[in-house]
Amino acid sequence: MIKRVLITGANAGLGKEAAKQLAARPEVEVVYLGCRNREKAFIAQQELEQLTGRSIFKIVEIDVSDTSSVKRAVESLPHSVDALIMNAGGTGGRDFSKLNSDGVTQIFAVNLLGHSVLTEELLKYGKLTQVAVYAGSEAARGVTEMGMPRPNLTTSSVEEFTTICNGSAFSKNQDATAHYGPIKYMGALWMSAMARRNPHIKFITMSPGATTGTEGFNTLPVIKQYAMKGMMQVMLWLGKVHRVEVGAGRYLSAIFDKQLTSGQFYASKKGLTGVIGEQHLLFADLNNEQYQENALKAIQRFNSH
Ligand SMILES: NC(=O)c1ccc[n+]([C@@H]2O[C@H](COP(=O)([O-])OP(=O)(O)OC[C@H]3O[C@@H](n4cnc5c(N)ncnc54)[C@H](OP(=O)(O)O)[C@@H]3O)[C@@H](O)[C@H]2O)c1
Repeated sequence: MIKRVLITGANAGLGKEAAKQLAARPEVEVVYLGCRNREKAFIAQQELEQLTGRSIFKIVEIDVSDTSSVKRAVESLPHSVDALIMNAGGTGGRDFSKLNSDGVTQIFAVNLLGHSVLTEELLKYGKLTQVAVYAGSEAARGVTEMGMPRPNLTTSSVEEFTTICNGSAFSKNQDATAHYGPIKYMGALWMSAMARRNPHIKFITMSPGATTGTEGFNTLPVIKQYAMKGMMQVMLWLGKVHRVEVGAGRYLSAIFDKQLTSGQFYASKKGLTGVIGEQHLLFADLNNEQYQENALKAIQRFNSH
């Protein structure tokens, strides 16, 4: 039974909505809101209590782009969690390509390195018991509608994955959306490798799908922000984007749907919304165990302390 759940990036968008939906399940006793900003976390906690009528939301301070903060957060957890939703992420802010003290770009730190450290630490201290969900993205297989190409690696070696971690794979003038797809692709490969190493935990990469009503594009440069938001608006008119309730509902499916297989990456079968399906059927590289291991090893190069 799933009683305690930790969600990163829980004060807004998909993370907050997932917290709300979890509260509708009586067996869920505690939802830890993993947030980097205490004030925003407090406001979200109050809103969630009002919306759901349940006082089950507890704040855990965590900045997933900072591995020391991640470790402190795990130490501060009073109990194990049955499920973890690795939701924090996005385009990494204005300094998305700047290297942090671990030697990875900000966008890599927030989307992947921090979550890798979080999962390893929870497992090390016996604080994760059943399910780990990683927020994937259709961008991992390329999104032609949004001008995002499919990640095109030449060797998929540890060295090549390392260039995604430290940003050297991308030329200086490229924007955050060039990094984003390859990072989410690596995230899905890493989850598959983790599933093999930890058969007692269900590891699911789940894309929430193209979701409107979140703050995801707010950290992009203004022009790009307008372009992406405009595109989302057109897609909404065309019925190609869904509401945050639907996107967050996919995280809950990842936790509770027993038909979903550990180690797999699920996202929209076609386009960016609608029915979900296993992504290796669309992008065979995702099932390559050597690539999965190489992605994990590249991440571990930056995860040594
Ligand atoms: N929306 C979509 O269409 C879509 C599609 C596919 C995948 N996704 C993925 O879904 C996830 C959530 O997206 P969203 O659209 O809900 O984004 P959002 O509305 O921007 O929410 C992101 C959340 O993550 C938090 N966050 C950002 N950096 C953090 C950090 N370093 N440490 C801790 N928390 C941090 C934010 O907190 P602050 O308020 O403090 O910034 C916020 O609570 C992301 O991983 C995204 O890549 C989204």
